[in-house]
Amino acid sequence: MTHILAIDQGTTSSRSILFDAALRPVAQAQQEFAQHFPAPGWVEHDPMDLWSSVAATARAAIERAGTGVHDIAAIGITNQRETTLLWDRATGRPLHAAIVWQDRRTAGRCADLRQAGHEALIRARTGLRLDPYFSGTKLSWLLDHVPGARERAQRGELAFGTVDSWLIWNLTGGKVHATDVTNASRTMLYDIGQGAWDAEICGLLDIPASVLPEVKDCAAAFGTTRADLFGSPIPIFGVAGDQQAATMGQACFRPGMMKSTYGTGCFALLNTGTRQVASSHQLLTTIAYRLNGQTTYALEGSIFVAGAVVQWLRDGLRLIRDAAETQPLAAAADPAQGVVMVPAFTGLGAPYWQPESRGAIFGLTRNSGPAELARAALESVGYQTRDLLDAMRADWGATAQGVLRVDGGMAASDWTMQFLADITGAPVDRPTITETTALGAAWLAGHGAGVCGGPEDFARLWELDRRFEPRMPAATRDAAYARWQRAVAATMAF
Ligand code: G3P
Repeated sequence: MTHILAIDQGTTSSRSILFDAALRPVAQAQQEFAQHFPAPGWVEHDPMDLWSSVAATARAAIERAGTGVHDIAAIGITNQRETTLLWDRATGRPLHAAIVWQDRRTAGRCADLRQAGHEALIRARTGLRLDPYFSGTKLSWLLDHVPGARERAQRGELAFGTVDSWLIWNLTGGKVHATDVTNASRTMLYDIGQGAWDAEICGLLDIPASVLPEVKDCAAAFGTTRADLFGSPIPIFGVAGDQQAATMGQACFRPGMMKSTYGTGCFALLNTGTRQVASSHQLLTTIAYRLNGQTTYALEGSIFVAGAVVQWLRDGLRLIRDAAETQPLAAAADPAQGVVMVPAFTGLGAPYWQPESRGAIFGLTRNSGPAELARAALESVGYQTRDLLDAMRADWGATAQGVLRVDGGMAASDWTMQFLADITGAPVDRPTITETTALGAAWLAGHGAGVCGGPEDFARLWELDRRFEPRMPAATRDAAYARWQRAVAATMAF
């Protein structure tokens, strides 16, 4: 029993990767699923799509590896965070579509809570902003809008979960209703200092305690899969939200280490050790991981649109057929044009927190074409990361002078990573394995199951592929970044 199956349930696709005992990927399978946009600013997933794509890819990865189920020591789960589900404990049927983290439908509710003076309490207890991004107001919306849901929840008939809980429930055939501490820390219902659900915030949102899952350490035992799913039961031993899993996958175990993951959005996490650092610069305080009862905290900067801007060039504008085309296009663009794109498609996250803002493009001329738009799209990812690193530097000290470890799809683009180093003025390190999210989940599960060593052993496996050093002259960098800041200010004022 030496292999580990990592399940990575993301915003646009589900992936399963089988790792061997040395944490080398052996086989994988991936499935995209439908995105639903029922109203402007709303984003939903079909819960059954999430589950069936996970089950199908897990089976396919096991089959492709040809190892046999008996070789698998453990399953690790990592997932898109904050996305909110509610289901019937008796039948396992969802009561509604999953409300995705990007969904802004509860912006008004958040504004009301702010107006009523509740923001300080929420920040102090949860480390989060009062923003529709998090699960709390989404769950409250479900209880308000699905007929009879609140009464049924009060009778203990319903279960709430983020995606990890939903998958654990289905994998264990409804035996386990649990989550891990990193996912709990994104609900806006969890006191990250006390390590417990917060009764006062649940009261504010009228959420009965009976719907909440049990919260466990990241490398705890989360039950065993139904025997019929894979031919033989497999224990689940590691669970973490995808950004926290990537933090572990990047071996950012020491305070001051930071990583930035470029998926649908971009999420930078800085390990702050056992210290819960309250941000004065609009970042989130969140749990990086909890191992053997010891909590490690992080400062997080969350950007809602990173890879999604390339997807928009492809599927929305139809400028490109493949994401990889953006790199040569950007390289061929006329740099003198200075086109700036603010991809606030679902509002602006850190450090602006403007749920009602929408995207904008500045500086177009008759000569602006696909190349300039591609360049502006890729640059927007670098500018947004700079916003986060500046906030981190202000909150934590010298960090932004330090190295940024990058991963996720866009980290493969040399052009984008070079721009990132240039605009942040700090080195950017890309590891050989950029699938760090799944790797982090695999390590957690392997660690929990006793087939992988501790954090220090795992950190020794981290290997540099390439370091990008900043090359841009300081004056060019400052002028470009000032243009970006003007563009963001104009977008927010629109
Ligand atoms: O907070 C949302 C985040 O967990 C989603 O990650 O990789 O699906 O964009 P990703």
